[in-house]
Amino acid sequence: MKGIILAAGAGSRLYPASLPISKILLPVYDKPMIYYPITTLLLAGIKDILIITSPNDLENFKRVLGDGSEIGVKFSYAVQEVPRGIAESFLIAEDFIQNEPVALILGDNIFHGFGFSSMLQEVGKRTFGATVFGYLVQDPQRFGVVEFDKNNKAVSIEEKPQNPKSNYAVTGLYFYDNNVVEYAKTLKPSARGELEITDLNKIYLEKNKLNVEILGRGFAWLDTGTFESLLQAANFVQSMEINTGMKIASIEEVACRMGYISKEKLIELSKKYKQNGYGTYLEKVVQII
Ligand code: DAU
Repeated sequence: MKGIILAAGAGSRLYPASLPISKILLPVYDKPMIYYPITTLLLAGIKDILIITSPNDLENFKRVLGDGSEIGVKFSYAVQEVPRGIAESFLIAEDFIQNEPVALILGDNIFHGFGFSSMLQEVGKRTFGATVFGYLVQDPQRFGVVEFDKNNKAVSIEEKPQNPKSNYAVTGLYFYDNNVVEYAKTLKPSARGELEITDLNKIYLEKNKLNVEILGRGFAWLDTGTFESLLQAANFVQSMEINTGMKIASIEEVACRMGYISKEKLIELSKKYKQNGYGTYLEKVVQII
C-alpha cells in the first residue's frame, strides 16, 4: 500500500504565524506537525509516501524530511499548484500510486489513542473498497459528516452540512482500493470550486464499498486549524508525553518499532539531537523496543 500526505494548503487561517513556512511544518510541541501524519502512515505499515506540497514550500519539506532513507522508508514529493481540493491528490499522484491501494492523510490531522496501531494495521491490509474514520464532535457543520442506520451501517455522507444528520465527523485519513484514481477522474468541482473528498467517498458509499470505522471516546483527533486549537494540540502532546514518559509521533522511534531501521541505527539517529531531550529520549527508548 502507498501513502500520500496532503500538505499543500495556504494555511492562511494561521497567518502571520504560518507566513514564513507551511503550517504543516510548524511545531506541535516538540516536533514539526508533519511528524504526526507520517507516524500514522508508518503505523499502518506504509513505507512508500508521497508528500504533496505547495510550490513555495517544496524545498522546506525536502530539507526537513529528505528521501526518508534515514528512517528506512521512501519519501517522494509532488506539488499542488493551487488548492483545488483534497481529491485532486489522486490525480497528482496517479503515477505514484500505480496499481496499488493507497492511504491519504491530511497534513494537519493528528491522531492518538490506544489500539490505533492495530486498527491501522488491520485496515492497511484491505485491498477492497474504502475505509474512513468517524469521530464524535460537537460542531459537525465544520466537517464531512457520516450518518448511520440502526445497524451502524453508513447511509449518507455530506460535506459541511448546515443541518448535520449526525455528530460523526469524517476525519482526514482515508484508505482506498486501486479504483480511486479512476473515480477521482469523474469528479466535478463543487460550488466552492474544489474536488471534494466527500464526493469521492460518496462514490464508494453508493457502490456499497465504504467502511466506516468509529474512533471511540478514548481517541484524540486533534485540530490545528486555529491559533487556539494549535496551542491546545501542543499542550495535549506535552501533557501526554510528560505523564507517560513516552513521545507521541517520534518518527525515528516508530520506524524502529516497525522494524524499518535497526536499534543501532536508532542510536545513531539519536546523536543528531544529543543536545536535547529528544535525543536523550531516543537513546533511552531503544532499550525498551
Ligand atoms: O479534517 C477533516 C476534514 O477535512 C473532513 O471532515 C472534510 O470532509 C474535508 O473536506 C476536510 O475539511 P477541511 O475544511 O478541514 O478542509 P481544508 O480545506 O481545511 O483542508 C484540509 C487540509 O488539506 C489543510 O491543511 C489544507 C490541505 N489542502 C486542502 C485543499 C482543499 C491542500 O493541501 N490542498 C487542497 O486543495
